[in-house]
Amino acid sequence: MLDKNTSLATNCPIPLFEFELPNGAAVPSHSLPADCFVSSEFYNFEFKAVWEKEWFCIGRATDIPKPGDFFTVTVGNEPLFAVRHGSGAVHVMTNVCQHRSMLLLEGHGNVRRIRCPLHSWVYDLEGHLLSAPALNDVEDFDKNGVCLPRIRSEVWEGFIFITFNESLAPIGDRLAHLSKQLVNFRISELSAATSLEMMPYEWDWKIYGDECYHCTHLHSGTWCDFYPTPESCIDEATPFSDPGRGIVAYELNSAVLDGAPTRTGKALHPLLPDLTERRNGHE
Ligand code: FES
Repeated sequence: MLDKNTSLATNCPIPLFEFELPNGAAVPSHSLPADCFVSSEFYNFEFKAVWEKEWFCIGRATDIPKPGDFFTVTVGNEPLFAVRHGSGAVHVMTNVCQHRSMLLLEGHGNVRRIRCPLHSWVYDLEGHLLSAPALNDVEDFDKNGVCLPRIRSEVWEGFIFITFNESLAPIGDRLAHLSKQLVNFRISELSAATSLEMMPYEWDWKIYGDECYHCTHLHSGTWCDFYPTPESCIDEATPFSDPGRGIVAYELNSAVLDGAPTRTGKALHPLLPDLTERRNGHE
């Protein structure tokens, strides 16, 4: 995650050697240093090292198919919204009014314009201020100079990615090889039955990405028929991994064709037509 030679690395409040795996460590027995989860200094460092530095997937463009469709999301400490413009483009902007910082939109829905609930400033779907009641004709107020800051974004295979880092290479370039490998999944054509709801959780995001140790315990009543043991179903030697481009992947191979943790034990959607049985989840 962190190149030791960067100034960022030298500003890390926890010595870097504490992150290194001891020789021969079994993964479940190793964890990040405890201060990563409790130190406010590290919390602030993390925003610079991760959240202000990388690309993040914030949702599916297929969730906002029509002009004016939007959803809101918070990345790091930044409230944002993604909206479909009449041109078909997806724009991601700050969800904070440029007047007195009121939150503009909540949840998801469809708007023709973006109207701030506090004093009714109105923005168009590209973030330009259209109207500011009682100020429109004030001589030294130039509404043309007001625009919601646009966040750099890209749509890759239907996924909306954003970054706060203007110098980062395009995500489409980084994932181009993956697009070729996954061509039979036709990912850009897939849409969710319901929009993904992003909820705030009272736990540290690093716990979610840290391990698969919990699977055979927490999910024993739901997943274990399909994934009996990590050894039998997790393939870490997958060709999808490309650490040089920041892609770290594993394959989860189900022991049951179209098995899923639903009431019927089956996936609710049909098998993807262009895939082999293995790629539809069956070894
Ligand atoms: S805070 Fe939005 S219009 Fe005043």
